[in-house]
Amino acid sequence: TFVVTESCIKCKYTDCVEVCPVDCFHEGPNFLVINPEECIDCTLCEPECPVNAIYPEDDVPRGQELYVALNAELAALWPVIATRKDPPPDAAEWDDMTGKLPLLER
Ligand code: SF4
Ligand code: F3S
Repeated sequence: TFVVTESCIKCKYTDCVEVCPVDCFHEGPNFLVINPEECIDCTLCEPECPVNAIYPEDDVPRGQELYVALNAELAALWPVIATRKDPPPDAAEWDDMTGKLPLLER
């Protein structure tokens, strides 16, 4: 399965959702996740993210392993998103930020 990692927090560009053939992205207030039970590993979403937030489960950046479980947990709680929407107005200010996990809204 593929996993959305920290870079997405407060950026949420949503380019990824348009290409997913099985609509497995789920949307929270300032982050998206992939439902691991639905993802078919097609790889299409990975290059669409402008901040490179999407990785294969076995290749998430060091220190971000917790996002594997976080995607599964939050996908069960959040609604599906399959259509692109405008990012937050200040998204670009957060592109290169790290340590964003405490800012994740549920
Ligand atoms: Fe959807 Fe394919 Fe990305 Fe999985 S890898 S989330 S199926 S676009
Ligand atoms: Fe997030 Fe990148 Fe998609 S910022 S919403 S994973 S395009």
